[in-house]
Amino acid sequence: MSLLIQHTTIVSDGNRFTGSVAVEGGKITCVSPTPLPEEGFDEVVNATGTLLLPGVIDTHVHFRDPGLTHKGDIATESSAAAAGGVTTALDMPNTLPQTIDTETLLEKAHIAAEKSVIRMGFYLGATKENAARLAEIDSSLYCGIKVFLGASTGNMLLDTNEPLAEVFHKAHKPVVAHCEDQSLLSVLYKNARKDFPNDAPIAIHSDLRPAAACVSATRRAIALAERYGTRLHIAHVSTAEELDLIAQAAKHITAEVCPTYLLFCRDDYARLGTRIKCNPAVKTAADRDALRRGLADRRIYTIGTDHAPHRLHEKRGGALRAASGIPMVQFSLPVMLDLAAQGFLTYEHLVELMCHNPADLFGMNDRGYIRTGLAADLVLINPHSPWTLTPNKIVSRCGWSPLEGHTFRHRVLATYVGGKRAY
Ligand code: DOR
Ligand code: ZN
Repeated sequence: MSLLIQHTTIVSDGNRFTGSVAVEGGKITCVSPTPLPEEGFDEVVNATGTLLLPGVIDTHVHFRDPGLTHKGDIATESSAAAAGGVTTALDMPNTLPQTIDTETLLEKAHIAAEKSVIRMGFYLGATKENAARLAEIDSSLYCGIKVFLGASTGNMLLDTNEPLAEVFHKAHKPVVAHCEDQSLLSVLYKNARKDFPNDAPIAIHSDLRPAAACVSATRRAIALAERYGTRLHIAHVSTAEELDLIAQAAKHITAEVCPTYLLFCRDDYARLGTRIKCNPAVKTAADRDALRRGLADRRIYTIGTDHAPHRLHEKRGGALRAASGIPMVQFSLPVMLDLAAQGFLTYEHLVELMCHNPADLFGMNDRGYIRTGLAADLVLINPHSPWTLTPNKIVSRCGWSPLEGHTFRHRVLATYVGGKRAY
């Protein structure tokens, strides 16, 4: 199968230029600033007026497979990803069973080989029980190690000093940390359960999981990574102060921000209720604005979604009972492209955050750029095609989004994985 995309605007490697991309055998065979002869190609796309980006690499998803497939499975969620221009997703370990050893890594890889329409990688979850033996697991089976310093969906907490240090010390792959200080969360939850025996109003979710908890755990993770030289990526940074801390830390410590924290703040609970309940919680408008500024000043290294679908009935209740997590994998690229159109970042920089840096961080040398010889993982965008998000457009099994009713300016036209159309 060969493919030729003509007359598009190619965005990669800090450049943007009109040109053509040829694909054969799943790989990019030519990137040309002039149109290429069309003879011999199985498919020729006249892509005048479009943008062509490397496929998005979302390094933070919860696809719920195995064990939680009523929320979503690798078939439905990878299809949602493809519809959003995502061609690689790295899946978190808080499934059932948890992904914490060779057997569960192999099982997940097997399911993905059967069901995924995109490329996938899998995190190994660190726990108190496996911390001492993590280094013995074949590191080619996993992309990185996930550490939860604060408990969230699935209760994969690892916050005691000794095993935590062991993981940072012995890690063969990047450590991705969920940073919330569990000792502080526990006190706040205990008090809230006393004050609100049935449930608490959603608006206090951001008080139960405050900025101070994030900052304290981020400090702790940075200290460990600096002591042991660990390649540390702090997941879903939600506060201005964490971004400052990471900017001042050693170079091998970087920040992920999710569209959620760029879009929403605690004032939005009044409008969106538990639809924006997630861990860490959204914070103040000032935090949201500081994170938006962190795009332009390059203190953010990657954009990941923390795509965490739950069924709507699981989102019922308030701060204590409603499930935490927001589906986002299908809409992160349109969200970020629209932020680019609003001037928060350039298209070139967006591609750095969503394609180049994720590939570099996880050593995926075969993708993430539009270059001859790399995998033909590509996404074609119409930058002037407004559309409104209605429930019928949602591909994720959960069927809802906090962005319903939102009008986007950019539209994903097609997604190619290894030169084959996945959307
Ligand atoms: O809001 C969240 N949902 N935060 C997490 O850390 C986990 C995720 C989930 O799996 O539902
Ligand atoms: Zn997550």
